[in-house]
Amino acid sequence: MLDKLEQLPADPILGLAAVCRADPNPQKVDLTVGIYMDEQGVCPVFDAVQHAQRALVAEETSKAYMPPAGDEAFNQGIQRLVLGSDSPALRDGRVSSVQTPGGCGALRIGAEIINAATTGARVWVSDPTWPVHIPLLGSVGLKFETYRYYEPAGHGVDFDGMVADLKAAAAGDVVLLHGCCHNPCGADLSLQQWGVIADMAERQGFTPFIDIAYQGLGDGLDQDAAGLRLLVSRLPEVIIAASCSKNMGLYRERAGAAIFVCRDGENARALVSQGLVAARRVYSMPPAHGALLAGRILSDEVLGELWRIELVAMCERINGLRNALVQKLNTVGDRDFSFIQREKGMFSFLGLSAEQTRRLREEYSVYMLDSSRINVAGVNASNIDYLAEAVAGVL
Ligand SMILES: Cc1ncc(COP(=O)(O)O)c(C=O)c1O
Repeated sequence: MLDKLEQLPADPILGLAAVCRADPNPQKVDLTVGIYMDEQGVCPVFDAVQHAQRALVAEETSKAYMPPAGDEAFNQGIQRLVLGSDSPALRDGRVSSVQTPGGCGALRIGAEIINAATTGARVWVSDPTWPVHIPLLGSVGLKFETYRYYEPAGHGVDFDGMVADLKAAAAGDVVLLHGCCHNPCGADLSLQQWGVIADMAERQGFTPFIDIAYQGLGDGLDQDAAGLRLLVSRLPEVIIAASCSKNMGLYRERAGAAIFVCRDGENARALVSQGLVAARRVYSMPPAHGALLAGRILSDEVLGELWRIELVAMCERINGLRNALVQKLNTVGDRDFSFIQREKGMFSFLGLSAEQTRRLREEYSVYMLDSSRINVAGVNASNIDYLAEAVAGVL
């Protein structure tokens, strides 16, 4: 039976990262996978996480299953983090959540719930979007439409195109939005543009599904959630997939949450029951470690403050790298790269052709996706000059 199955190609992003790891060139630069890396090229463990982990290990007396909806402190903490502790929706008791294996688990549970409400519902995704969205939501049976989002010539959001396309989104449809730090393009909506999307959702009746995997890596924790909170304040229903992979560095621990903002408390409780049944058939029980750490950090004032300071430093470093990269690229060539400074989070499309990215790989050992998406956090003081010269070399 199994011998019919063929070898599948590697995931395009992870496969490229593996090629880079195998490259013996000591000057190689890895800008592929979306994980934060520090000046030493290491994806660090937050001090707040280290503290929480030591306490957890000392206190943990059982490895019995978690409650099916996950850790209560985590669920409460992530709802406050995403929606704001003064959120009227929280105060009104119309919010619930299920702890999931990372943001991907949250996207999957959200997709299962959407499909339970409307079999084969249409989900509108941005062009481009994070490629994993398609198999994650599509394998549940949801169908896709795309809306224009990134405009390569202007290196920004094609908001007129987005609005024109979303005019066709109707009640029963879902519009998938990146809460902040759009992956792959780094171009985000302004608050005023989020307001226009809220008007459209109100008028047309579609349901927003917001993927917020990078809260705190753009302008700050509250600023990055401002658009999402605007939609929540205006609309009866919003589904949110949240993740602590990036903003707490808990990637491998798989800490995320599917958050449901509903018409009322009764509906919010119904959605938890739907989420639990969906989880039972997909992965059964949520993982413990990452959510227990995040739950501690989000419910402890001292640890929470330590984490926020570390996150601000991370965010400032990324924004500093954006400025430094633009300056370096300006000194080696005459193409305008200033758009990199206007973008948010870890990603940017450099605007190179697939042929130029291939040459960067083969001639310089500089690795980025064929689309020229880079992980800005892969840049550091020891590779920035080489990177800028390599880019200039293929232009
Ligand atoms: C846009 C987007 N959404 C969701 C995720 C989910 O990440 P995780 O499942 O590791 O929390 C990622 C991770 O790269 C992402 O880029």
